[in-house]
Amino acid sequence: MSATSTAGPPLLQVYRPAAPLFVAGSGCWLIDEAGRRYLDFTSGIAVNALGHGTPVVADAIRSALDTGLVHASNLYRTAPAEELAAWLVDHSFAAAVFFCNSGAEANEAAIKFARRWARAQGGEDKHEIVALRGGFHGRTLGALSVTDRSDYREPFTPLVPGVRFVDPREPGALEAALDAGRTAAVIAEPIQAEGGVRPLGAALLRRLREACDAADALLVLDEVQVGLGRTGTLWAHEAAGITPDIMTLAKPLAGGLPMGATLVSEEVASAIRPGDHGSTFGGGPLVARVALAVCRTIGEPTFLASVRARSAQLDRRLASMARRPDVLEVRGEGLLRGVEIATSVAAITERALGLGLLVCAAGPSTVRLLPPLTIGAAELDRGMDLLDEALGC
Ligand SMILES: Cc1ncc(COP(=O)(O)O)c(C=O)c1O
Repeated sequence: MSATSTAGPPLLQVYRPAAPLFVAGSGCWLIDEAGRRYLDFTSGIAVNALGHGTPVVADAIRSALDTGLVHASNLYRTAPAEELAAWLVDHSFAAAVFFCNSGAEANEAAIKFARRWARAQGGEDKHEIVALRGGFHGRTLGALSVTDRSDYREPFTPLVPGVRFVDPREPGALEAALDAGRTAAVIAEPIQAEGGVRPLGAALLRRLREACDAADALLVLDEVQVGLGRTGTLWAHEAAGITPDIMTLAKPLAGGLPMGATLVSEEVASAIRPGDHGSTFGGGPLVARVALAVCRTIGEPTFLASVRARSAQLDRRLASMARRPDVLEVRGEGLLRGVEIATSVAAITERALGLGLLVCAAGPSTVRLLPPLTIGAAELDRGMDLLDEALGC
């Protein structure tokens, strides 16, 4: 016998989905059951980087299905995972890649790999992970333990021990928090996305790198939301001229199919042994083949140049939006932007939805803009016109 306390579908109520029931997607648009079209400035929270219904993803899925090889497990080798890992290594600092299924899992792996490396360097005491105030790394217990959101954390304590939070903008705080004897790694997002679209900036990223080097600790960059072209370069950290020791990816990696990846340097890779970690589904041939097609598309210099062109257009639109009295600040880079407002974000996202524009929140007071990286100039202007209207132009 089953009993539900509320009307509606029997989905566990961890989300509060908006009203439209989407049945189709095309480019930057989602279409509901009544045929109404919505301009998507959320990209499924940074996932649909190539838009909806893209042939890049559809063709890769079809060709994977034609092989009949959807899953074989990591007991065996499959070509797509090896080709994807080779692409990621060729296009980054990394020497090796671990595949999983989500951003949180990629960060779980990063924490384990960092501790494995650190133990080999400095023994059991060298295990601490330093995380940044305002950071978000996922909802599983390890990822939540390095996430600075008390409302997400408090119902589930005790979390994983050995985590220290630091506000890196406080003078001297970062350097004081790191210690060669106890710090395994610092984990940071180049742009704190869920925390309100707050870029760390090149100078702070460089300071993180220097502080990690001084304390013989690893720098873990979480590029789950900002990696793979979102900022107009392949990786968000590129602009700072630094490289991490570990980088995590997920959201856009497989064009809408679930996939995460943890990229590690040669030094970290050499500390990892068979049996240290694993995932049944991670790097399966279907998702890996799709991810390879997505990575090749995004990695094209002309593709990244077009993201930068749309970003420059967004700069111009946001500069005029910033003059509104109800807009407190505009932040972000590339096609990840935050508009901090004095009024209710929920009211604005609701009003935008009514106008046919999908935007989401980032923290309590920021409207987050995450259009597909393939958005055209006219669609970008259309979306910004609708946002102006939602703000009450
Ligand atoms: C920076 C960052 N890391 C990790 C995650 C967690 O990813 P997932 O929801 O795929 O577990 C997110 C999700 O929003 C994120 O933005």
